[in-house]
Amino acid sequence: LGDPGVAAKTLALQVCSNCHGVQGVSVSPNFPNLAAQSQPYLVEQLKSFKSHGRSDPAGFEYMWGISARLSDEQINGLAAYFSSQPPASGKPGEPALLNEGRKIFAQGIVASNTPACAGCHGAHGEGIQQFPRLAGQHADYIVKQLMVFQRTDERPEGAMMKGITHELTPQDMRNVAAYVESM
Ligand code: HEM
Ligand code: HEM
Repeated sequence: LGDPGVAAKTLALQVCSNCHGVQGVSVSPNFPNLAAQSQPYLVEQLKSFKSHGRSDPAGFEYMWGISARLSDEQINGLAAYFSSQPPASGKPGEPALLNEGRKIFAQGIVASNTPACAGCHGAHGEGIQQFPRLAGQHADYIVKQLMVFQRTDERPEGAMMKGITHELTPQDMRNVAAYVESM
C-alpha cells in the first residue's frame, strides 16, 4: 500500500487475501466474500469506505485504513480482480429457514409491502450492476448488514435497502440470509 503504483493484483494477493481469501472466498463470516461480486458495486463500496460514507463498525475498523490510500486505478483493478473470480458455492442450511427465506426472496412479504429481493438482486441472487450479488454470501454477514440498513444510517448508499428492511423481523432476516447463503 502507500504506493499508488502497486498493481491491484499484488494488493489483492498480499493484503486483501488475509481477510477475504485469495480468490475472494473467505473462511470467517466476519469477512464478506468478494468473488463474483458485481464490479460497479465493489468500486462503489471501496469509494464509500475511503470517503467515510460507509461507517458501520466493522467497515470503519477494518476497511477505512486500507481504502484510504487506494488510488482510483487500484480500486478499479481490485474490483475487476475480485468480480472475475469464481463464486462461492452455496452452503446448505436448515430446511425450515430455507423455505421461509425462499418465499421472501422470490415473492417479498405482501402484508408489509416488502418487495421481492429477486427483483433487484436477480432471480439467482447473482447481482447486477449496483445491486450486489447475494448468492453464496455468509448468512451472518447478510443479517448484520440488514440490521445496519434497518437501524442505522451507516450505509448512506443503501437508502433503498432502508425502506425494504423496515418491516423485516430478526427471524425474517435469518430466513432470507440462510436462503441466499444456500444459493
Ligand atoms: C468489507 C474490499 C482488505 C476486512 C469489504 C468490502 C469490500 C472489501 C469491497 C464490502 C463488501 C460488501 O459490501 O459485500 C477489500 C479489498 C481489500 C480488503 C479490495 C484489499 C485492498 C481487507 C482486510 C481486512 C478486511 C485486510 C481484514 C483485516 C473487511 C471486513 C469487511 C470488509 C471486516 C466487512 C465490513 C462490514 O461488516 O461492513 N472489503 N477488503 N478487508 N472487509 Fe475488506
Ligand atoms: C444491498 C439484501 C431487496 C437494492 C443489499 C445487501 C443485502 C441486501 C444483504 C448488502 C450486500 C453486501 O453488503 O454485500 C436484500 C434482501 C432483499 C433486498 C434480503 C429482500 C428482502 C432489494 C430490492 C432492491 C435492493 C428490492 C431494489 C429496489 C439494493 C441496493 C444495494 C443492496 C441498491 C446496495 C446498497 C449499497 O450500495 O450500500 N441488499 N435486498 N435490494 N440492495 Fe438489497
